Amino acid sequence: MKHASLLAPSILAGDHARLADSARIAAEHGARWLHLDIMDGHFVPNLTFGPQTVAALRPDSKLFFDTHLMLSRPQDYIEPFAKAGSDLISIHIEADCDQRATLARIRELGPQNGIVLNPGTPAAAIEPFLDQVDLVLVMTVQPGFGGQAFNTQMPAKIAQIAKWREERGLAFRLEVDGGVDLKTGPLCRNAGADTFVAGTAFFKAPDRSAFAAQVAAW
Ligand code: DX5
Ligand code: ZN
Repeated sequence: MKHASLLAPSILAGDHARLADSARIAAEHGARWLHLDIMDGHFVPNLTFGPQTVAALRPDSKLFFDTHLMLSRPQDYIEPFAKAGSDLISIHIEADCDQRATLARIRELGPQNGIVLNPGTPAAAIEPFLDQVDLVLVMTVQPGFGGQAFNTQMPAKIAQIAKWREERGLAFRLEVDGGVDLKTGPLCRNAGADTFVAGTAFFKAPDRSAFAAQVAAW
């Protein structure tokens, strides 16, 4: 199943004093998804924001809230983020939780679910979950900070996961996150990715609408 290419601007690269404005900018420039990077200062060496901020953004935004939980214990926060208005909640295979149960719980609460793997984690680690997720997120940088360099080893991993999707007739979206720009994005698209998180490349783009249009054409 080949999904149309989709941009998910990461609000991590937005204006943290005016997050609602950053969400509006994403929508005004053609995005339909908003990528929300949630960090606990433990699973990753950085802290961002929680369910209360997502709930505050929710009423004024029609964007699909793609919520990336970089948390050691995501199971403790599924309910608050679902209540806050997350449309999709993704959890890391490296997190300290029962991924199978947590992925099922996300869907029970309403949102779509996703499994995420870091650059150093082999694709085989998430293979057992492919038939119970709506999205697989392949990190193309080590999570924690925006603006890092794209890991050029990742297209091979993306291709492996895309192959399994094809062979098994699955329909999950294949998302990439970290260092995605007009150069690295097409490498990921050619490997089988269809959903592109872009923080720096989108929010710092000289022409954000042109950037969004280019991603849509991949
Ligand atoms: C890492 C974050 C970043 C961010 C996108 O934890 O998840 O990957 O979303 O970063 P850039 O600015 O590289 O697009
Ligand atoms: Zn992310």
